[in-house]
Amino acid sequence: MVAAAGLLLCGFLAAHLLGNLLMFAGGGAFNAYAEALEHNPLLPLAEIGLVALFVLHIILSVRATVINRAARPEGYRVYRGKGARTPGSRTMALTGTLILVFIVVHVATFKFDLGGLKGPDLYGHVLGWFANPWYAAFYVLAVGGVGLHLSHGAQSAIQTFGVSHPRYTPLLKTAGLGFAFLIFLGFASLPVYFGFVQKRQACCTGGAHS
Ligand code: HEM
Repeated sequence: MVAAAGLLLCGFLAAHLLGNLLMFAGGGAFNAYAEALEHNPLLPLAEIGLVALFVLHIILSVRATVINRAARPEGYRVYRGKGARTPGSRTMALTGTLILVFIVVHVATFKFDLGGLKGPDLYGHVLGWFANPWYAAFYVLAVGGVGLHLSHGAQSAIQTFGVSHPRYTPLLKTAGLGFAFLIFLGFASLPVYFGFVQKRQACCTGGAHS
């Protein structure tokens, strides 16, 4: 269930990233996309499903961690062989917590308009928040956490589903790592570009946000 919910959440992440990348096409394209999404009658249903997936994924993974720790209170002294730990696997609880904090802040500011800055121009709203370097840097850190979490999550899900093939399993694992890296790069490009690069260009050429 943890792996299945995680994979469905990856589907949301990929779709959310593709939509967000429209910011590079300018305010017109991004706002038109956001408006079309908002007027989709299936949106409330998708949002309920999304919340259910997040809650399921979090509750069941915390439960599995507690059960695992109770079963082996001392932990392994040495990790060997195929199950060797990676930076992703060692930090799952930490990156999971970071992602949870990020989602609360992210949805509060971008969707529920904490701070009361949101008007009909969602693109301008996002740029307004990214103008704060601390907020933009927090996004880069958080999506780094998302990438690290996925780097282990994808491998772990393949194992959970019992995929074991001498040729295809390594390919699937590489594809999982590639997906995690693309998700990190794609999401990080937004706060980096709109929070730091574009602002610098505007400052030094005398231009403004387009
Ligand atoms: C870093 C770049 C990101 C940008 C620019 C961005 C942008 C946005 C915007 C503008 C909204 C509000 C949409 C609206 O008001 O209709 C939103 C909602 C949301 N975002 Fe992001 N997002 C980013 C990354 C992420 C990541 C990494 C996650 C998950 C880990 C995420 C999860 C969500 C969720 C759950 C919602 C609420 C969806 C809904 O209820 O409709 N976002 N995002």
